[in-house]
Amino acid sequence: MSINKKTIEDINVNDKKVLVRCDFNVPQDEQGNITDDRRIVETLKTIKYLIDNNARVILCSHLGRPKGEFKMQYSLKPVAKRLSELLGQEVKMATDVIGESAQSLVDSLQPKEVMLLENVRFHKEEEENNEEFSQKLASFADIYVNDAFGTAHRAHASTAGVAKFLPAVAGYLIEKEIEVIGGALDNPQRPFIAILGGKKVSDKIGVIENLIDKADSIIIGGGMAYTFLKAEGYEIGNSICEMDKIDLALSLIEKAKMKNVKLLFPVDVVCAKQINEEADAICVDVGNIQGDLSGVDIGPKTIELFKKELQNAKTVIWNGPMGVFEIEKFANGTNEIAKVLSQINAITIIGGGDSALAVEKGGYADKMTHISTGGGASLEYIEGKVLPGIDCLNNK
Ligand code: 3PG
Repeated sequence: MSINKKTIEDINVNDKKVLVRCDFNVPQDEQGNITDDRRIVETLKTIKYLIDNNARVILCSHLGRPKGEFKMQYSLKPVAKRLSELLGQEVKMATDVIGESAQSLVDSLQPKEVMLLENVRFHKEEEENNEEFSQKLASFADIYVNDAFGTAHRAHASTAGVAKFLPAVAGYLIEKEIEVIGGALDNPQRPFIAILGGKKVSDKIGVIENLIDKADSIIIGGGMAYTFLKAEGYEIGNSICEMDKIDLALSLIEKAKMKNVKLLFPVDVVCAKQINEEADAICVDVGNIQGDLSGVDIGPKTIELFKKELQNAKTVIWNGPMGVFEIEKFANGTNEIAKVLSQINAITIIGGGDSALAVEKGGYADKMTHISTGGGASLEYIEGKVLPGIDCLNNK
């Protein structure tokens, strides 16, 4: 699928000031060291293109949720440092977003130079998509490039508002995300299998509904599986369950049947009385989850069942872990799914967030076709929702 929006290659950037919205919302440890720089690395293609084509590059992003206040721990300074190392050239860091420091750096910026504004969420106007704030950001530049796929589901000033005031085009990362994920959804090589996990059914209703119209099989694991198992009449002990979503689970099962989409649920699960490292884990078939036990991972029979289904897949989209994978002893199911995806001969697309983390932790990242830089954004895109950060860009 090709993107129906203009991209940086459709516009002359020579000697122009280009405002680029990136998603540099990267995880950091307590000392402020970036622990995963994939989101920074993935924007390099766009930034290098702009440098090579003689643009003056003004980058902006959010980091975390500082709620409209300047908070040092959310400063983008570590990002500027990492980006300088990756680019092999200085990234000038403004000490504010729309103030004097930003303005004077913009005014002195030369072609091929790169600067970064401070965290746009230091102003509450960012998340309010305030018009004046958008206009001020736009006043720095001649062209707006959005490459922040991970934030494209937010209608904020720097992700959408600013596009009202400038020619607005997509960067390479947004283009790639849409081509790969959109391509799989619209024209998948079959069998097309979706693997969904994570805690709650309520977070994935739209995704399941949309995928029932597109996929051949849907594998359901993680906490959300227990609401389905309960709906099918199984005792689920103390496992996480959304009682108010039982009817919905039943209707999704019914809809899948009507559309001939195979739904696969766990047949055995790893259970524990407490959810911590010290807890004793036991494995039981889904009919035998006792009163005080909670399901925390998929069991070996389920892993085999899911693996067998995945062997023939030609396209796989995975979003959400199979259990409480933050706790090592409950991470086996999630790790095994990551491993099998690294071994099959299929287009493998990993939704951002936890599934991406599992793939990276297992060392399988380079075996996947695509690891999305969007958690919430990729989910909304798979759901079929319009993403404001893409919708606002100029049509081809
Ligand atoms: C993300 O990490 O999913 C994006 O950067 C969006 O962040 P947000 O959920 O704080 O808007």
